[in-house]
Amino acid sequence: MTAQIIDGKALSQRLRVGFRERVERLKARGVSPGLAVVLVGDNPASRVYVGNKIKACEECGVHSLHIGLAADVSEAEVLATIERLNRDAGIHGILVQLPLPAHIPIARVLEAISVHKDVDGFHLYNVGALVTGTSIFPPCTPYGVQLLLDTTGIDVAGKNAVVVGASNIVGKPMGLMLLQREATVTICHAKTRDLAQHTILADILIVAAGKPGLIVPQMVKEGAIVIDVGINRLPDGRIVGDVCFDAVKEKASWITPVPGGVGPMTVTMLIENTLRSAERAFKAADGDEFQDWEAPVVKSPD
Ligand code: GUN
Repeated sequence: MTAQIIDGKALSQRLRVGFRERVERLKARGVSPGLAVVLVGDNPASRVYVGNKIKACEECGVHSLHIGLAADVSEAEVLATIERLNRDAGIHGILVQLPLPAHIPIARVLEAISVHKDVDGFHLYNVGALVTGTSIFPPCTPYGVQLLLDTTGIDVAGKNAVVVGASNIVGKPMGLMLLQREATVTICHAKTRDLAQHTILADILIVAAGKPGLIVPQMVKEGAIVIDVGINRLPDGRIVGDVCFDAVKEKASWITPVPGGVGPMTVTMLIENTLRSAERAFKAADGDEFQDWEAPVVKSPD
């Protein structure tokens, strides 16, 4: 079997056409959606990611505010910056790029972001809401993976879904979102013994380990859907995922490429969450706060 390719770049482009229409509708009602991106220090990878987020905002007509803080900035100054953004009515989404320098406690920074502007979905409130299936802002990477899975037309309910990687940003929320859709979920991580024993049972295999070449065909079930979240730069400059793409595509039914799979979707879902936030703010200003509850994309099992 040769897998069909799940094209994240094409899906992103399609979604962004719809975003521009939503931005126009909001602007016609006097709301200009705005996203603030806070970058502390000058981690080169973070600079690239932040640059992509700002570029996506420009492409979709979303106002963006890029705030660069020095690597030795105090915790108090970071918190004061977030507080200012929380109060800024022109800002609907606040994102603090991770990782942060070691002296800044990530948890305190994420908890300082208003839950109504937490477009990364990393605030404890939104993490808890993900557990109960009522998240307003699903974290962007797993949210993007969910839409990529939707494009296959395959229902995840009852399927064996194996997630490789247990990070707070990808693996854990991914597992919760798949569980919400009634998959049987296994989350593997660095301490998992005999990884292949788990991955070989996966109808849906999602790999977010940050290890190039980790997943070889012998670890993949014939006909599995394989989603590669990894983005690794090799010494020769090539960007590859965690999955041996050329070999695994001969065994999978569907597979995402790297680049052009999950990567563009992460940024696209950030814009989706920012627009959702702006739309909620508009309805709230109309005296409709919390009445606008739209079914979150993750559906309830009962
Ligand atoms: N660092 C790596 N991925 C992410 C992400 O999705 N959001 C933020 N804020 N930082 C990141």
